[in-house]
Amino acid sequence: MNQSDSNSKDLDVSPATWLISAGRPSDPGAPLNSPLVPASNFVLGSSRAYARDDATPAWEAFETVVGGLEGGTAVSFASGMAAAAALFGTLRVGATVIFPTDCYAGVVGLMKEGVGKRGWNCVRLPAVDTEAWLTHAKTADMIWLESPTNPLLDIADLPRICKAPRKAGSLLVVDNTIATPLNQRPLAFGADAVMHSATKYMGGHSDLLAGVAVARDPALAREMRMARELSGGTPGTLEVFLALRGLRTMALRVAASQANAMAIASRLTEHPLVHSVRYPGLPAHPGHKIASTFMRGFGGVVTFEVEGDAARADAVCRSLKIVRHATSLGAVESTIERRAAVPGQEHLPPGLLRMSVGCEEVEDLWRDLIQAMDHLRG
Ligand SMILES: Cc1ncc(COP(=O)(O)O)c(C=O)c1O
Repeated sequence: MNQSDSNSKDLDVSPATWLISAGRPSDPGAPLNSPLVPASNFVLGSSRAYARDDATPAWEAFETVVGGLEGGTAVSFASGMAAAAALFGTLRVGATVIFPTDCYAGVVGLMKEGVGKRGWNCVRLPAVDTEAWLTHAKTADMIWLESPTNPLLDIADLPRICKAPRKAGSLLVVDNTIATPLNQRPLAFGADAVMHSATKYMGGHSDLLAGVAVARDPALAREMRMARELSGGTPGTLEVFLALRGLRTMALRVAASQANAMAIASRLTEHPLVHSVRYPGLPAHPGHKIASTFMRGFGGVVTFEVEGDAARADAVCRSLKIVRHATSLGAVESTIERRAAVPGQEHLPPGLLRMSVGCEEVEDLWRDLIQAMDHLRG
């Protein structure tokens, strides 16, 4: 397998150009796009033998593009959870893990399994409590950060926490799914690894499941490749082909989503039936000031609560016509979900809605929200 251990650390082009131009073949006559190679088995005699272990051309290109963007060595996986599980797989029995109070539910599930089956000591800290992170980082084996958090959009002071003194041999990982590497690059702050649900903004079209872990140290990337090979958490050929195609337009999509998100969040703050609008781009968001020091944009996710109970929030979801009532985020189409309905998310206000703002015309989205909210009055 001829995968390079060191992707470009410092891009000499803008991230948007890198996303479009990196990982393309240059040999005369070669296709501009990495071909879809639907093969599990290869003729022996080269470094490529079997598709669970060795890269297809599309993997290599996908990993080159993501690795360069994050500034490390990328390893693709079958889903974001497969990438997270490989990173947690580095922990020994009895390890101490610190992670945010508000954290993606699937990762919380992995922690619970670790506590029950491997005797991990898991400590949850509010993402915003920087001093607590700095204190616990001295003794933790794994520091797992999410910022903005999903779904409360808390902001952690990533540059400070990533630089903090830590226990030797510990691993600091940032789930960068919601921000995307276009808005923040945790490896440059000092994180050991980042991970993504590539299902979200990277793919961008709700048509694939994929994940990726990006390591600063090539030795950790090699460990991730071995974990992938042994667990079989290998991405499918079609999925990685689609994820690579998604990456080509990610800068355009993220820019459109976050411009729409800013507009929707600002207007929601004025709506009489809405309260507790959370969006890190709003000056009133408690994390706005700190986020402005290290984020280039604030992402496409907005959360808010509607007056009344969970039933009224559910009614809004059901009344929307353009915004889809669906669980995932980061796609061209806007989606919305009442997150407390998801198991493991009981810490959330019952009526909290998480909207992933897509790339539609913002006036259409706003009209749709207004008509759905008008149903509550009737
Ligand atoms: C922040 C975050 N991390 C990780 C994941 C897991 O990714 P996947 O669904 O691709 O396994 C998700 C999925 O929703 C997510 O939102």
